[in-house]
This record gives sequence, C-alpha cells and structure tokens, in this order.
Amino acid sequence: MYFRKDLNNRPVPKISVPHKNTMMCLNESFLDPFDVIKETFLDEMKDVHVNRYFSNITHKLNIELENYLGIPQSGFLFGNGADEMLYNLFISVRENNDSFATTLSPSYFDYSTYCKAVGLGIKFIDLDFNFDFSVDDFIQQANDDNCKLAILCTPNNPTSNFLSDEKIFRILSELDKPVLIDETYFEFSGKTFIDFIDQYPNLIIIRTFSKAFSAAGLRFGVIISNEDNILQIKKTMTFFHSGLLTQTFAYSILKNKKIFLDHNKNIILMRDQMYNEMKKISKIKVYKSATNFLLFTAGEDSLSLFEYLMEKEIAIRNVSSGKILKNHLRVTISSHEDNKLFLDTLTQFFNKQKEKR
Ligand SMILES: Cc1ncc(COP(=O)(O)O)c(C=O)c1O
Repeated sequence: MYFRKDLNNRPVPKISVPHKNTMMCLNESFLDPFDVIKETFLDEMKDVHVNRYFSNITHKLNIELENYLGIPQSGFLFGNGADEMLYNLFISVRENNDSFATTLSPSYFDYSTYCKAVGLGIKFIDLDFNFDFSVDDFIQQANDDNCKLAILCTPNNPTSNFLSDEKIFRILSELDKPVLIDETYFEFSGKTFIDFIDQYPNLIIIRTFSKAFSAAGLRFGVIISNEDNILQIKKTMTFFHSGLLTQTFAYSILKNKKIFLDHNKNIILMRDQMYNEMKKISKIKVYKSATNFLLFTAGEDSLSLFEYLMEKEIAIRNVSSGKILKNHLRVTISSHEDNKLFLDTLTQFFNKQKEKR
C-alpha cells in the first residue's frame, strides 16, 4: 500500500445530502448573494489580475475583516471555509499517532471527519438530555497529555443551544492547551468569545461566511486567535490557498454587509415564528434555537415524516443518533414560501396519520 496505514480501513468520506426542490437541510441561506454584491464585485475585479499570485484585494479584504471582527490582522487567517480552517488547525496540533482532540457528542459531525483525515484521534463527552455536559468529565479527558485540542461548538449544531458560559470559561482557564470555539452560527446567536482572545492565550475561534453571509459555495472561513497561535497555524498552510476570486467576493460581501446582517434579523424572526407554529403541533417536540435551524422530533413518526417530506421534494436533515437524538430531525429556516410549504406539509402528514388510525 502506498499511503498511510490508517487510511486502509477507512471508508471514503461522503456527504449524503438529498437534492430536492426545497433545500432546508444544510443550514444554508436562501438569499443568493450575487445580485447584492454584483456591482462591487465586478468593479473590484477590474483591478484583480488572476495571472498574478498577489493582488491588493488581499490587503483590502484584511482591512474589511479587521473592521468586521474588531481585531487586528495579526489575529486571524482566512481560507476555504470553516472546514479548511479546522483542517489546518488539526494539522497544527497533531503531535503523533496517540494525539487526539476532545469534543462533545452530538456536535458538528465533520470534526471527526477532518480529525481522521489528518490522523488525529477524537474522543467525545456525551451531552445529556438537556444538551448540557459534565465539565469535570470534559476537563479530565482533555487534560490527558495526548489530548492536543478541545473543541466546543456554541451554539451547537445540531442541538441549536448555547453551551454554558461558565463551563466554557472553566475549560479555558483550566486547560493548558488550545480550546477551539466554533462560532459558525454567531450572526444568529449574537454571542461571541472574541473579546476574550487577549485574556485566554489558548482561545481559538472559527467563523464562516457559509451561513449568515449567504456564501456556502464560496468557501470562506476565518480562524481567530492571538498572534502567536496564528503564526503557528500559518506554518502548516500553503501560500496561495485562497483564490483571488474568492477574496474579491468575500470583500464585496463585507462592503455590503448591512444587507446580509439585516437579512439575518429576518431569519431570526422567521425562526421564532416557525418555532411557535411547530409548537402548536401536538405530535412535535421542537427546541428553542440560537441558530438558523430548528431541531425537532415527531417521536416514532419522525422517519416516515422525513420520507413524506422527501416525497414532497422538501429536504431536511435526519440527525437521529444515539440516545438523546433518537428520531430527531433538523430543518433550516428558509424563505417565507419554503417555511410555509414545510409547515403545511407537516400538517398534511399528521392529518394523514390521523386518518390511518
Ligand atoms: C458547526 C459548524 N462548523 C463548521 C461548519 C463548516 O462550515 P463551512 O461551510 O464554512 O466549511 C458547519 C457547517 O454546517 C457547521 O455547522
């Protein structure tokens, strides 16, 4: 065999996502950003020459990011999505075959995918039925010498709740190793740990343009920390990993950021409306959310509901796993029309179930 031994028995990672007319499964935005940023983008592109490696757009983008994040350039690095920044971070912390990361379960599925990709182990501390966890257990496991990184996602995907601030601060204070806080859903939750970067030398944050900035297909994410940590991570990265077209697009989004941030306010309103509507359906248990999606369950009917929605060309995510998320589904907040279609289809499903019984 030509490659790393641990790859032999690993399946090729696959994203099993249904493609339906109404996509409410990947926590994407329904707003296509091109119309919003077109003028800025085309104008900027006049000065961006892709026959060259370097362009002034990189500098302009860094300035816009400094303004948006409120921290100096020395405190962040951008790349192709939060995923790529996770990948780079995992490479930079992995020491040897015994190295592992500690995270919570259930949480973002691909922490595990990318840990395995770079040969970093991953160990989990389970969330309980309140989507809370034992901070003592977490710290104990993460204190193992072979644990090289702690990962916390808040608000957490797929449970949609905040982790406790108190527990996060305890983890940051008590662990003498990097603690990654994944703030992918920050623009919907409004809560960030960015202000604590100077206070905690081990704090690392990840953000993305895939959700609140309507640009999942752009592939743009940012890793944030103090200058020393950022320089270490940079040592593991290739020079020109971020294309100039992507940078120009990301810059144009930030130049028009108010439109996106206002749009998010609507998403939050629609999320809370949808939550209230779903709460009225007695067969459903829906959870309060600090993100752009809702976690819910229809108990034993969840799988047939999922399939019924698929038949009706509506794709949501089946996040059923383990004890606490058995029969749980996740739906992304979309346009008024999509949300209404989803709710109407839920009602239809339960009416049909009633007829059957
Ligand atoms: C918690 C979390 N982290 C990271 C990502 C990856 O984001 P990106 O599209 O920027 O790679 C996602 C995507 O759904 C996510 O939910």
